[in-house]
Amino acid sequence: MIGFFHKNLPEDFFKGACDIHCHLLPGVDDGFPTTEKSLHALQKLEERGVRKMILTPHFMKDYPENERESIMAQFESYKAEAAKVSGIELHLGAEYMLDACFMNHFKQGFLTLGKKGKHVLCETSYLMYEHGISEMLYDIMCEEYQPIIAHPERYEYAVRDNYFRWRDKQYKFQLNLLSLSGAYGKPALVKSHYLLKEGMYEFVGSDMHNLDNFRRFLPEIRLTKKEMERLEQLIENNKKLFD
Ligand SMILES: [Fe+2]
Repeated sequence: MIGFFHKNLPEDFFKGACDIHCHLLPGVDDGFPTTEKSLHALQKLEERGVRKMILTPHFMKDYPENERESIMAQFESYKAEAAKVSGIELHLGAEYMLDACFMNHFKQGFLTLGKKGKHVLCETSYLMYEHGISEMLYDIMCEEYQPIIAHPERYEYAVRDNYFRWRDKQYKFQLNLLSLSGAYGKPALVKSHYLLKEGMYEFVGSDMHNLDNFRRFLPEIRLTKKEMERLEQLIENNKKLFD
């Protein structure tokens, strides 16, 4: 229940922040369709104080043309354009669907998050738990990769037991910031607040696909003092990926 003690995000919430999950690389997935729109969003984020962004295009069987080498080339040309209008530091990562293509991406070499070269952003189907996921994640962890599960609150099949089991397997969780606003529906809203309170998340990302949703739903986020403290810790954890 939203009560008197719930507050909106402070004005300076993004000051110095690093966003580790977004779809700003234009024209490669269901995120920003054009460079112009993407650069406009980048400028707006800079005005809010964002300092670094890791662009994480989808790598999944729905986008078979998204391969490591081609995405790296597109990122370099985007980065050159972005440098003309923004001082935000840009990095390239990826969001890997745990599907039949996942192990191929593993063999080609993952585009990881941050400096350490070990953090791999992964997502699963929203609707059902697909067979073989834990085996794939086990295989990459044997090579010392650290899976980060994107937006666990959005998986409709996932209940408390799933989250604790995944945590016991040493997967890290990344919160989608707008889940806390109800942007993805009531179940994701309830789960995101629960997981935040329980201290289950390690990182936070915007998962931005367009600027409109961000503008519309950001003011809807209402947090208790404890939730705000947890969220601020996640923002700090994001920065540590570059230590
Ligand atoms: Fe995403």
